[in-house]
Amino acid sequence: MNSTIDVLRSHRSIRQFRDEPVLPEHIREAVRAGQAASTSSAIQAYCALQVTDPTKRARLVELTGGQPYVAQAGAFFAICADTRRLKIACESTGQTYDQHLEGFVLGVIDATMFAQNMVIAFESLGYGICYIGGLRNNLPVVDELLKIPDGVYPLFGLCVGVPDQQPTHRPRMDVDAALYVDSFPSDEELQNSLHRYDEVYTDYLVARGAQARSWSQVMSRKLGKPMRPDLASYYTSKGARLD
Ligand SMILES: Cc1cc2nc3c(=O)[nH]c(=O)nc-3n(C[C@H](O)[C@H](O)[C@H](O)COP(=O)(O)O)c2cc1C
Repeated sequence: MNSTIDVLRSHRSIRQFRDEPVLPEHIREAVRAGQAASTSSAIQAYCALQVTDPTKRARLVELTGGQPYVAQAGAFFAICADTRRLKIACESTGQTYDQHLEGFVLGVIDATMFAQNMVIAFESLGYGICYIGGLRNNLPVVDELLKIPDGVYPLFGLCVGVPDQQPTHRPRMDVDAALYVDSFPSDEELQNSLHRYDEVYTDYLVARGAQARSWSQVMSRKLGKPMRPDLASYYTSKGARLD
């Protein structure tokens, strides 16, 4: 339809990178594009910590559950919600920074939009990316490794580099599963649309040489047990209020 939409629609996560750097000017350009994203009341409650030290990157491979591309990618960033500056700004005017859950949610929204704009910029420059939620596997140790200040909340990692693979597109649900007009579908309608997507997803996995599983099966294997139950205690230890 147009070149921006082409870039967006050609996205696929890259998990194998060439041993080539991401040019510093491209990193700055991508961050600038990230900063251009909308931000709630201009709070800009985000930052990206680029990790260049190979020893730290090797440790992050372990801490993210053994994902080798965390070290192989030309660049790796820890994407953080960052309310530290806001606290400093408030206190400099004699106010307290006291935002409770809303402040944390604003930071998560802002940081995610910042990161996704960076991603689109990188992809438009020909790089491949992979987000790394595994960064949250063991946040207290990541915290110590990266010396995260209070008020800064690491959310996910981001690998960027020159792709060394061309994965097939992972199919998404129909547009009608994401766009509702005026009212929400019934559970039965949702169930019917899931049946169709389950078949598409199974075919995709089989074509990739993976075990035949429907999307519903993959989700229930993943979500049938608590995930990262210690997140609240870590984030509150860094100053977040989640109430
Ligand atoms: C916040 C976030 C965290 C993710 N964490 C990981 C991760 O730790 N490891 C990984 O290999 N992929 C990770 N992914 C990539 C997703 O698995 C991938 O986007 C999804 O399966 C869709 O595939 P696609 O990006 O190729 O279209 C993450 C994606 C997001 C948005």
